[in-house]
Amino acid sequence: MVQRAKRIVVAIDGPAGSGKSTVSKRIAKSLGLLYIDTGAMYRALTLKAMRSNANMEDEDALISLAGAAKIDLKKTESRLKVELDGEDVTDLIRTVEVTNNVKHIARVPGVRAKMVSLQRAIGRRCGAVLEGRDIGTVVFPDADYKFYLDADLGVRARRRFSELVEAKQDVRIEDIKADVETRDKSDMDRAVGPLKKSADAVLVDTTNLSVDEVVEKLLSYIERL
Ligand code: DC
Repeated sequence: MVQRAKRIVVAIDGPAGSGKSTVSKRIAKSLGLLYIDTGAMYRALTLKAMRSNANMEDEDALISLAGAAKIDLKKTESRLKVELDGEDVTDLIRTVEVTNNVKHIARVPGVRAKMVSLQRAIGRRCGAVLEGRDIGTVVFPDADYKFYLDADLGVRARRRFSELVEAKQDVRIEDIKADVETRDKSDMDRAVGPLKKSADAVLVDTTNLSVDEVVEKLLSYIERL
């Protein structure tokens, strides 16, 4: 593990299936930093909205829901545990239903403002590797290191499909590919905090790279910069 005295912030953005989560966890571990999965926070809020039958068009209702939600990311021995109002929702937030509903939550400026200030507070406290869509552009525009991971749509869809099959979800690759494409569009087109490569982020195409190769590439940039 590389020992660092400073509170380093590493921003890792990119579309679904680009490899962000796996790589971010590994980078955090090797730098001895906290790993923050910002997508999990939006997912947890989406679950809360779905459970309370919130009107997904009612921005004020979604903002007050975000204000009332207690979202915690806790590092356990084996994984990052996501808690919503004290309940372990780590697996529940990965269903196709939640995934397809996140867009309603993620497009509300007032919701994003709350999530961003929470993410900044955690990151500033002790440094972190944060993964998401708007980390390098909005949450930490002054991050020490910024990366933007990308990969071909087909490869990203296959990665997502494998994760869901492993989690015993009944899915079809065609549907997952369509879902990923729809999500890319809503992530890139939203008015606030859209998915976009920050001008100063290092672009890494992971299409033909193994996880080890991507991790090595990112760490070599971090050592070099
Ligand atoms: O990384 P993920 O697939 O778990 O993210 C789920 C959704 O959450 C993603 O499609 C858009 C939203 N999201 C966001 O709007 N901003 C972030 N920083 C992270 C995720």
